Amino acid sequence: MNTPIISLYNVRQRYSERTVLAVDRLDIEPGSIIGLAGPNGSGKSTLLRLLAFLEAPASGTLTFMGNPASCKSNQIHRQITLLVQEPYLLKRSVHANVAYGLKVRGESDIMAKVNHALELVGLPPDKFSCRQWFELSGGESQRVALAARLVLRPKVLLMDEPTASLDGQSATMIRQAALAARKEYGASLVIASHDMAWLNAACDQIIHLENGKISGTH
Ligand SMILES: Nc1ncnc2c1ncn2[C@@H]1O[C@H](COP(=O)(O)OP(=O)(O)OP(=O)(O)O)[C@@H](O)[C@H]1O
Ligand SMILES: [Mg+2]
Repeated sequence: MNTPIISLYNVRQRYSERTVLAVDRLDIEPGSIIGLAGPNGSGKSTLLRLLAFLEAPASGTLTFMGNPASCKSNQIHRQITLLVQEPYLLKRSVHANVAYGLKVRGESDIMAKVNHALELVGLPPDKFSCRQWFELSGGESQRVALAARLVLRPKVLLMDEPTASLDGQSATMIRQAALAARKEYGASLVIASHDMAWLNAACDQIIHLENGKISGTH
């Protein structure tokens, strides 16, 4: 068996003394697609923030590639990325948004990589590269935000309700781009969504959360 990319052991998260998440054990296997389902307030977003190493649990341990890991590791933040429901775009062009992370990392071939990422999310570069952030619909903004993450080829792509409030076409593009991330470079995906049809079709495993606990896995 491969070493899981991320494992949780006896993890609890509390906000103001209230336990909102209690997960005894969870493994994210390399290249797997995991769905997170559950009613509002069941802890999906909280679990995603923990998996993204954006916040530390109140108790318990998280490992990354088999080693105990903390939120302070830049190395981890290079390899795990969370697409939130209302992502923040830089107040610049579409190209600049997607190129930003590549420039920070000093990568080469930026134009080709940005254009490929835009194609993956269904935004033709000749039409969209030069658009400014305020010239985008909500669905287009969400796809630019996804392209800005895909272009960095993260090992783990976490998505928090990425298709909520999108029209059918944008939602389809997001779904296809997520699958392409696994196919092209073996990313693991964790997708929180109320869209059970999508989760059933795309996921190797669906984890149901209720009141912060895993109530079922299938
Ligand atoms: N920063 C915070 N401070 C205090 N309470 C929080 C915080 N974040 C989440 N909670 C609480 O933790 C519980 C789980 O919230 P979470 O956002 O993880 O649920 P969710 O499953 O993502 O819900 P939804 O489907 O509405 O997005 C909720 O009761 C929420 O009020
Ligand atoms: Mg949520």
